Amino acid sequence: MDRITKAARLMIVSDLDHTMVDHHDPENMSLLRFNALWESNYRHDSLLVFSTGRSPTLYKQLRKEKPMLTPDITIMSVGTEITYGSSMLPDDGWVKILNQKWDRNVVIEETSKFPELTLQAETEQRPHKVSFYVDKTEAQVVMKELSSRLEKRGLDVKLIYSGGMDLDVLPQGAGKGQALSYLLNKLKTEGTLPVNTLACGDSGNDAELFSIPDVYGVMVSNAQEELLQWHAENAKGYEVVKFYLFYERWRRGEAANCETYIASLKASCHSITDKARARQDPTATFVFPTGVEKTLHECIYAMKGCYGDQKGKQFRVWVDRVLSTPTGSNTWLVKFDKWELSGDERCCCVTTAKINAKGSGGASDGYTWVSVQQKWLEGYEKKDTSIWLF
Ligand code: GLC
Ligand code: MG
Repeated sequence: MDRITKAARLMIVSDLDHTMVDHHDPENMSLLRFNALWESNYRHDSLLVFSTGRSPTLYKQLRKEKPMLTPDITIMSVGTEITYGSSMLPDDGWVKILNQKWDRNVVIEETSKFPELTLQAETEQRPHKVSFYVDKTEAQVVMKELSSRLEKRGLDVKLIYSGGMDLDVLPQGAGKGQALSYLLNKLKTEGTLPVNTLACGDSGNDAELFSIPDVYGVMVSNAQEELLQWHAENAKGYEVVKFYLFYERWRRGEAANCETYIASLKASCHSITDKARARQDPTATFVFPTGVEKTLHECIYAMKGCYGDQKGKQFRVWVDRVLSTPTGSNTWLVKFDKWELSGDERCCCVTTAKINAKGSGGASDGYTWVSVQQKWLEGYEKKDTSIWLF
């Protein structure tokens, strides 16, 4: 391998199909532009990593079809194969890790019982990856059933659905995200952890790239439905941004006085329903920077009365440094700085929100706000707090 001796200024970890490579662009304009940018400004001090679902065979084929650069590191077969340099030297340490709780034969045996599954081409069947096609309409049910069967057989596997058609069965420790974690760890022990890492992708097998700590992410605008779905279920920071966009427009009198959004907000606040009472769940609370505590329902009620109260005035709201971390399989902690510009006054609250998945169906049933807590950022306290709402 071309030895990595210095920490990279930037490491880009990019998916290929429909991310780095636009199959609808016969002229390959964006790819060629990226190539020029990379070679002129980054090649000398940064790392290019391709992370693809393709096997080495199909990867090499794509390289023949498209004007692609030579990456420093290649992650293939959905994170089950890592190679270095242009000679593509395999990482044997990674292979050993993947052998844990993995038995290809059992996977083949169990999957053969599902008529909904069609095996992909022979080239795409790899030592730590068994791949199928399955119809969109049947995918969820098949995945649930298959995963419980494999668990009963003592295997710890990961099922990934991509592009609305591909189903990959991998060892639990595999996947693009795990491979990236492994790589970052390795670079760290060698004292060459990249200064910045950016992951890019468009489909289901890229989702885990976006939960690796300290890695920036780009979901391309043509992202697949299953990735958008994953984003809606997991990236809770998005809900925060959406709420404050609405809140600003509401106070400026620009949002349609929409009862439906308010109703959905109310419904997303943890409240005393009979079920909640039975579980002895607390009501969602909001702790103001002043120390005053209210229920979230009271806050929403107060907001209802403030529609357009900032009309014609200088009033802006934005959030910065949003960080959403899962704290359990169905719970998240979202931290962010909430800024408010009102006239000449600019204030900021360091905010922590706890969010839970609603119902038993996991995150897909929606979410609830459990609590929100704010503290003034030093030097940015608001003087008149009589109408501080969120
Ligand atoms: C690539 C691979 C295929 C895999 C898919 C999704 O298309 O060739 O085997 O199922 O990526 O990960
Ligand atoms: Mg892709």
